[in-house]
Amino acid sequence: MENSVVESGLLLGGPALFASPRMKQTFETAQRIARSNASVLIQGESGAGKEVIARAIHAYSMRSSKEWVDVNCGALPENLIESELFGYERGAFSGAQNSKPGMFELAHRGTLFLDEIGDLDLRMQVKLLRVLDGAPYYRLGGTRKVSVDVRIIAATNRDLREMVADGDFRKDLYYRLSEVSLEVPPLRDRPEDILALSELILSQIDPEISFSESARRRLLAYSWPGNVRELRNVITKAAVLRGDLEIAPEHLGFEEGPDCADWSEATRGELVSIEKKAVLQMLQRTNGHRQQAAAALGISRRTLSRRLREYGMSARRSA
Ligand SMILES: Nc1ncnc2c1ncn2[C@@H]1O[C@H](COP(=O)(O)OP(=O)(O)OP(=O)(O)O)[C@@H](O)[C@H]1O
Ligand SMILES: [Mg+2]
Repeated sequence: MENSVVESGLLLGGPALFASPRMKQTFETAQRIARSNASVLIQGESGAGKEVIARAIHAYSMRSSKEWVDVNCGALPENLIESELFGYERGAFSGAQNSKPGMFELAHRGTLFLDEIGDLDLRMQVKLLRVLDGAPYYRLGGTRKVSVDVRIIAATNRDLREMVADGDFRKDLYYRLSEVSLEVPPLRDRPEDILALSELILSQIDPEISFSESARRRLLAYSWPGNVRELRNVITKAAVLRGDLEIAPEHLGFEEGPDCADWSEATRGELVSIEKKAVLQMLQRTNGHRQQAAAALGISRRTLSRRLREYGMSARRSA
């Protein structure tokens, strides 16, 4: 099957590649829905390519010549989200020396990308819902109503359904955001992309370098908790570390699977400590993201949470 390589400066500054059947299908769906105005919710693990898909939707839409406005809902301090989204008039609060349009206004006729939407607190969720329902709004301190025509694409690496069930995310907002919903599968579930992307990334660094057969096998065997972002980092490093023009497994910087030492004589206490080490390392690697860590360890999220409680670590949601 031929790879779909999308050469577009709009896609995060480099070509995007969809080689696996699942990603080809996701990309085709993205192209198909691009022409509608439907809101799109893109879910998937960190580094899997949610933004790549979001940008593709904008690039293939009638709005492509208008603005793409990117809001990271997770990075904005709570007190700034409102003024960033809706803008403000001069004197609306201390420090507001000039008026400023919000992200909604900036994205008029274009696309507003609400990244990390799962990080938005409940109070902001209400305000967002009102605007998304088409209600004109005021800038902070404003007296003139603003109405905008924007296409919303939201993305998150959190499980919004679970958040809705837990009361952490409004159900009505969830449905409003997910008129169409897309799932970007983790890299480990699409081996065709692992190799095709590895080749693409390497050819961008230096077309003379190649992977040894055993390096290819190791790339395929690894679980890629950080997905394509991690793949890019690993290959960039390997291209520096290699001796000759070939990248060997040892240049990739991770081991092939679980430790091969003989644990048959290990005591229960030793097993627990090994397991604990593996769990904590994986959590560190996924920046505390429990769902991803659990997936990479091959256990359920519930089991992971139980283990953490057993280790005396808080059961608080971490990501
Ligand atoms: N299909 C692809 N083709 C080429 N590059 C890709 C592809 N998917 C992801 N990448 C690259 O991987 C990196 C991460 O992708 P992206 O930013 O879209 O991930 P994300 O899902 O939005 O992650 P996060 O949840 O951490 O924001 C980027 O450098 C991007 O260019
Ligand atoms: Mg992203």
